[in-house]
Amino acid sequence: MKIVMLGAPGAGKGTQAKKIAEKYQLPHISTGDIFRANIKNGTELGQKAKTYMDQGLLVPDELVVDLVVDRLKQEDCKNGYILDGFPRTIPQAEALDAALKAIDEKMDYAINVEVPDENIINRMSGRRACVSCGATYHLQFNPTKTEGVCDACGSELILRDDDKAETVKKRLDVYHDQTQPLIDYYKNAGILVDVDGTVDMNDVFNAIVQILGE
Ligand code: AP5
Ligand code: MG
Ligand code: ZN
Repeated sequence: MKIVMLGAPGAGKGTQAKKIAEKYQLPHISTGDIFRANIKNGTELGQKAKTYMDQGLLVPDELVVDLVVDRLKQEDCKNGYILDGFPRTIPQAEALDAALKAIDEKMDYAINVEVPDENIINRMSGRRACVSCGATYHLQFNPTKTEGVCDACGSELILRDDDKAETVKKRLDVYHDQTQPLIDYYKNAGILVDVDGTVDMNDVFNAIVQILGE
């Protein structure tokens, strides 16, 4: 099963992708997590990506597409995967489709997690992220057992640099401008499903399981 997660920054793509990955035993591939790991490790890619991410802008397509296409060729992707944060632009979606078509495959679902802009800023300021394993928590809605420590791997949690209110507003603008058109793109491809992302995260997950099957 091959799944694309769509939705605004903070809609809960990462939260749901992680749950889907566990239940269906699929790799969770988050381009944002890949970039943050590269920034943490001080790679050249990380340095390049950071200049865009800190401004709330998208990293240029040419730095993203090959990275993902290569990742999808790895052994653990042979039964499918969940893409979280990719594609982000129409050219990225077209490049992905072309890469799949070349090996006679296609995407199965594009899950669009719907959350209005008004809810987003509040969510982001309370978010805490693990730089080691990519797990995401929320001070209020999804707290860890020990404050500041990842439940999954014991690493330290951070407030992401791009979660400041001003940067979140910019990311929302960029989302509406460059990423939202993907909703129609996948609707036209006949694989778009919408879920209400404003309800409790377990209820969002239940709605997704209804769609994907037990
Ligand atoms: P990325 O890391 O993908 O960030 P994003 O799309 O802005 O999305 P987020 O990770 O912020 O939100 P999310 O939807 O995963 O929400 P989460 O589950 O954490 O990208 C970062 C940057 O990298 C981009 O700005 C760009 O520069 C670059 N980049 C990445 N991919 C790229 C690409 N393909 N092309 C170009 N550039 C790229 O949830 C948010 C919070 O809400 C959490 O605290 C969570 O606990 C809480 N929450 C979740 N669900 C609920 C719920 N139902 N109720 C209450 N709280 C909830
Ligand atoms: Mg995320
Ligand atoms: Zn962790």
